[in-house]
Amino acid sequence: MGEKGGRYHLLTFGCQMNKYDSEKIEGLLAREGMTATAIPEEADLILLNTCSIRDKAEHKVFSKLGILSAAKRADQLIAVGGCMASLRKEDIFRRAPMVDVVFGPDAIERLPKMVGDFRASRTRQIDVAFDDAAAWDRPEGGARESDVVAWVGIMKGCDNRCSYCVVPDTRGPEVSRPADSILAEVEGLAAKGYKGINLLGQNVNSYGKGLAESIDFPGLLRMVDKVEGVERIRFMTSHPKDLNDGLIASMVECKKAAPSFHLPLQAGSDRILGLMRRGYTAAGYLEKIRRLRAAAPHITVSADIMVGFPGETEDEFLDTIRVMEEVRFDSLFLFNYSPRPGTPSAEWQDVVPRAVSQERFDRAMLLQRKIVAQNNALLVGTVQQVLCEGAAQRPGAVFGRTPGNHLVVFEGYPSLAGRTLPVTITSFSGYNLAGTMVCGE
Ligand code: SAH
Ligand code: SF4
Ligand code: F3S
Repeated sequence: MGEKGGRYHLLTFGCQMNKYDSEKIEGLLAREGMTATAIPEEADLILLNTCSIRDKAEHKVFSKLGILSAAKRADQLIAVGGCMASLRKEDIFRRAPMVDVVFGPDAIERLPKMVGDFRASRTRQIDVAFDDAAAWDRPEGGARESDVVAWVGIMKGCDNRCSYCVVPDTRGPEVSRPADSILAEVEGLAAKGYKGINLLGQNVNSYGKGLAESIDFPGLLRMVDKVEGVERIRFMTSHPKDLNDGLIASMVECKKAAPSFHLPLQAGSDRILGLMRRGYTAAGYLEKIRRLRAAAPHITVSADIMVGFPGETEDEFLDTIRVMEEVRFDSLFLFNYSPRPGTPSAEWQDVVPRAVSQERFDRAMLLQRKIVAQNNALLVGTVQQVLCEGAAQRPGAVFGRTPGNHLVVFEGYPSLAGRTLPVTITSFSGYNLAGTMVCGE
């Protein structure tokens, strides 16, 4: 960068992948001697790490850019990174003329240089190319969201091309990270005292494709399972079409693999699943859940579901409701379909009116709340092994997660962070549980 030091203000939108990338951005900027500030007016460099998955996500970014642009000082610099950078490219300069730098997810490594080049030349910088060889390594001392549980990227991009999804355009083709690089990061984290490792990728079941070494996801899971110090491993996202008995067997075998599974369903109608190009049927999905539960009876299951996909009829929506009633997901991420530029389904004319989609969303949400309340009521009175992650918002309380990934708040000191403690679940409110540590701890 042109000059050492200075302050940056970083805003992160979107999914865990972006949060993971933002941690890397922070590490790179720290290496340049920069420090973070929560106050945009104080910053020399303002960065937005953005998301394009739904229209609303992009709206949020453009409205934030409007506010930041209006207050921008002459010596301040605005950089836009993440998925909108890949998707909107130069268009970002047109829609938000105060933006100086646009950098895609594979250009993060070059961000400091781009900022320096802008400062030196006062000409806009853009780098949104996909790069299969983009570095996986992260600067030592980079920020992490938690001191107990860390995300570790194992692959980037996606080759699936579901008909509604921009991710293949924003993150590029699927590339797996070499296993030794993953292991080095996990071992480094374990040495720092991390207990939880969340392996991250758009489609973790196809891990290993294209690597010179012969390794698949179950093989990787077994390797991470052996790392001393690591206590809990989770991974996301699995694609139902690629979930097989080999992965289920490896989960059962790996004692550190936590009994929670995220398996996006998207829809319960076979016609809609076909139009979405998901590559499975509702019966096929249910069969995989059945096998998962047969092998690991206490496993919790979460999913993503979309309502209002083009042409979705009331009956087809009810197919989704039926699958929800059958599976009884422990948690669910529910979305209204949003047409995305460049995706096949955005061209389809049989749009479901927003009001109809929203009404379906509300009905599905109501059902899910009921299911969660019933599931949570069954947990009250049980003792759960909770991995404490640190102080909760309420003074005197800490929070952590059960093996099944439920969030629990209980009385305790922040120094309990990193310890796995027996906690009796006493009550619940919405999605969260409350508990008391079992005496003697
Ligand atoms: N790779 C993951 C999901 C990534 S995106 C998978 O295959 O499941 C996260 C979720 O956003 C998706 O599961 C889907 O439910 C939702 N989503 C993706 N595109 C969307 C769109 N155009 N409109 C609404 N929701 C969308
Ligand atoms: Fe998008 Fe489908 Fe790839 Fe998931 S699997 S990121 S929904 S294209
Ligand atoms: Fe994630 Fe949004 Fe990109 S969901 S992969 S940040 S489009």
